[in-house]
Amino acid sequence: MIIEELKDNEIPVIAEIEKLSFSKPWSEENIRSSFNSKSCKFYTAKTDIIVGYIGVSIAADEGYILNVAVRPDFRGRGIGRKLVTFLIEKYADSLRFITLEVRPSNISAVKLYTSLGFEKAGERPSYYSNPVENALLLTKYFNSKLEI
Ligand SMILES: CC(C)(COP(=O)(O)OP(=O)(O)OC[C@H]1O[C@@H](n2cnc3c(N)ncnc32)[C@H](O)[C@@H]1OP(=O)(O)O)[C@@H](O)C(=O)NCCC(=O)NCCS
Repeated sequence: MIIEELKDNEIPVIAEIEKLSFSKPWSEENIRSSFNSKSCKFYTAKTDIIVGYIGVSIAADEGYILNVAVRPDFRGRGIGRKLVTFLIEKYADSLRFITLEVRPSNISAVKLYTSLGFEKAGERPSYYSNPVENALLLTKYFNSKLEI
């Protein structure tokens, strides 16, 4: 498996994985608009097909994970962990922290992030709809930047 930057012609595949993964998926247009923004980067995990992706938005020295998803038939094989680890390693030297929002009921995602050093930083009440749920804010700080 390789991880590389998303290409323009692959956006429909990402939109398809979104539909299979979220109750309120990003549309192809939403993804394309972030893809075209200089502050956002998307990476895909590939075997002979695209099996997952991760998107990050960068503002100064802060990173915000937009979305991570793995094709349902490829879950539980370490791909999600590889995508998040890839992002951590890629940005550990240039960012102060990476943060994200997640549904507390999304046990597999919460376990994945906390096992990689993300810690609870707060909650946003009723952040999600369909169904309504608070968002858990999880943040991973990079030590090198904390010493400054
Ligand atoms: C969350 C998601 C990206 C994880 O991807 P994945 O490839 O299945 O995850 P991995 O196989 O790399 O597992 C990594 C860790 O996640 C946790 N995990 C994964 N599946 C799990 C499950 N069914 N139950 C509990 N924990 C689980 C475990 O901690 C696991 O580590 P371990 O295997 O060492 O125990 C995937 O489930 C997904 O696409 N979900 C739908 C989209 C989503 O919710 N994205 C996150 C939004 S914030």
